[in-house]
Amino acid sequence: MKKTILSGSTVTGDLTLGNYIGAINNWKKLQDDYDCLYFLADLHALTVFQDPKVLRERTYSFFAQYLALGLDPQKNIIFVQSQVPEHTELSWILTCLTPLGYLNRMTQFKEKSEKHVKNINAGLYTYPILMASDILLYQADMVPVGEDQRQHMELCRDIVGFFENRYGAGTFKMPEAYVGKMGARVMSLQDPEKKMSKSDENEKNFVSIIDEAKSIEKKIKSAATDSGTEVKFDLENKAGLSNLMTIYSVLSGKTTEQIESDYMGKMYGHLKVDLAELVVETLKPVREKYLDLMKNKDYLDQLMKSGADRARPRAQATVRKVYDAVGLVKS
Ligand code: TYM
Repeated sequence: MKKTILSGSTVTGDLTLGNYIGAINNWKKLQDDYDCLYFLADLHALTVFQDPKVLRERTYSFFAQYLALGLDPQKNIIFVQSQVPEHTELSWILTCLTPLGYLNRMTQFKEKSEKHVKNINAGLYTYPILMASDILLYQADMVPVGEDQRQHMELCRDIVGFFENRYGAGTFKMPEAYVGKMGARVMSLQDPEKKMSKSDENEKNFVSIIDEAKSIEKKIKSAATDSGTEVKFDLENKAGLSNLMTIYSVLSGKTTEQIESDYMGKMYGHLKVDLAELVVETLKPVREKYLDLMKNKDYLDQLMKSGADRARPRAQATVRKVYDAVGLVKS
């Protein structure tokens, strides 16, 4: 029996190099050897205000971006969260088990409520419970995510504990986070103290995976570095440069030591030029495939439907088990 992998991304902005390097690149590596489910978290997107038209369009766009990045809709179950209603059903049961104190600790809630002061809604607060439902619904063994999702993963594991304490073991598998060694936290290009985020208002801070070559080159070449000259991996003193080296390392397969030795005696500018070229080369076929896929929404609709059809029976089986365990009467 293959182990089950599940992961997803919230449908906001466009996927960035951070999403790719920290998560989707690992999803791709796992797709040959595991039973993988990858979904678009459109319900999670509703925790901040979304223009309905934009959200709908973006859902197609994200689906096409997943495919263009190399996720295979045959090998994996690729689906849209809202098309499998069991996510919200399980979420309610788990909401009734999760103490407020645990939610109060979530750093992402604190950050997001500072950013969206006019819309601190209950969904923003209970977001990690919906995320736990996404994972537990499919009895996932492993969840490949970037560093920023570690705390949510811990909460998910705590929730399994709350459930087992009250109703006994055997309903859910205990999932584990899978965080890559390199690139688990790609930083913003202009402000390397904060993470690269697809919802950043300043476009210079991130490279989107469907950016045009010219724009990628400009963003990488103008990335903030320090005033030093030696190409050396040093997260503390050379955060901007180290971030660029991390991206370089993941995309080229070279270690940071190899990169240091390749650039011995050269300036940061040389590294930036080569990195820009490497990113452009990596993303050029992705953009082409993406633009092609977006011409055929019917095809995307078909794939979405078949993904949801494959995901639903598995979700239903878990919800049935859960309803039974908590004492709800079958209809
Ligand atoms: P999201 O959409 O913010 O990000 C998708 C994935 O990309 C990773 N990531 C990064 N990795 C490295 N560097 C970065 N700068 C960077 N930015 C993002 C994230 O860690 C994530 O793995 N809550 C999730 C979506 C979600 C989910 C789930 C994930 C909903 N339910 C169940 C796994 C399992 C989120 O907003 O990810």
